[in-house]
Amino acid sequence: MGKKKHRESHYRTSRRFHQDDDEYSSALPSSAFDLPPPPQDDDDEGEEGEEEEVEESHEKSKHDLGSDTDTPSKFDLYQLSVQSPKGDISYMLKFFLMYVGGRQPLHLQEDFCGTALLSTEWLRSDPRRTAVGLDLDLESLDWCLDNNLSKVGSDVSSRLSLFHGNVLQPYESRLVCHPPKIDFIKDLSLDYSIGSQVQSGIPTTMGDATLPARDIVCAFNYSCCCLHSRKDLIAYFKHALNALSRKGGIFVMDLYGGTSSECKLRLQRKFSGFTYIWEQEEFDVINRKTKISLHFQFGKKKALRHAFSYHWRLWSIPEIKDCMEEAGFKSVHFWMREMPDTHLHENADEYTAGRDVKYEELSTFRQRDAWNAYVVAVTNV
Ligand SMILES: C[S@@+](CC[C@H](N)C(=O)[O-])C[C@H]1O[C@@H](n2cnc3c(N)ncnc32)[C@H](O)[C@@H]1O
Repeated sequence: MGKKKHRESHYRTSRRFHQDDDEYSSALPSSAFDLPPPPQDDDDEGEEGEEEEVEESHEKSKHDLGSDTDTPSKFDLYQLSVQSPKGDISYMLKFFLMYVGGRQPLHLQEDFCGTALLSTEWLRSDPRRTAVGLDLDLESLDWCLDNNLSKVGSDVSSRLSLFHGNVLQPYESRLVCHPPKIDFIKDLSLDYSIGSQVQSGIPTTMGDATLPARDIVCAFNYSCCCLHSRKDLIAYFKHALNALSRKGGIFVMDLYGGTSSECKLRLQRKFSGFTYIWEQEEFDVINRKTKISLHFQFGKKKALRHAFSYHWRLWSIPEIKDCMEEAGFKSVHFWMREMPDTHLHENADEYTAGRDVKYEELSTFRQRDAWNAYVVAVTNV
């Protein structure tokens, strides 16, 4: 990511930046490409005129990103414009019921969790649930602790174990928040016994922690594309499989594709107070590499450019399936959703995904301009 040239100092955080409470049934699943519908506000005007440009810097302090500063943090903006955790949760519950069944899934692992918004929502909506979050970026995890978790109360936050580390070496990842309370552990069934490390103090790594076997492991917003080699992808899928309950579990990830995903592209979507922009650089067909940048524009004058940048290998669906099977999953299922044609939206103000278009389980799907998929891998029950 680039260097921050200017600092926005007088941007007011207001109720306009708060997320609306969609019902599970109507919420869209999250993705950087599959944008959740925004609340409309006429105050937000295009991108004309001279603007104060802000480039994102890794050197921001925690204080700079806090929710009570006068600049909305890039994480707040990301959560509002990119993520839709209720939609993802409702699909994961449906997949678990279909492919495993026989019990309610209670224990989730969110890999590549970022600010762990999905885990927070998972915990908030059922007091029996636990969650494990794992990410390489300490800044996102710290922001989660200071913002998402501080809003939900200790009864919720005590059921989340956040780890800082690489999904390729999960056991070495380090705990960044407190493990579940002892009282809570006592109430859990078979899978969750109190480990000696927990009894004698707080475990420091995932390898030391005694965690409940997960019912669901997920990796959203195309995070598996952060892994660039087949060897790494299979190693990661093996770790995911290993974390899942022997009573049966699912691994769920998302993927995007279509002819539009293999060329230069810029799409935008208006939200109250800001515009979210997804920018795709030229696609390298030999290595299947792409660079995605997310920018935020505030009215005419200000922009937070390159708030997030990703170097992805855009995996194909059969490559993912082969790697999942090689890692040891018993079956793999594809839930596809056609996206609106990007050619009709590239120069438009809005790239809007219809709420009524649902994901469908399919075994063949003709190439389109743009599609999104959930890939569901099921353990050998
Ligand atoms: C596209 S973001 C997705 C964040 C979140 N899952 C979401 O749904 O919005 C990818 C995340 O993966 C993390 N990441 C990338 N490579 C990783 C790795 N090898 N191990 C753990 N986290 C990684 C990044 O720090 C970033 O937070």
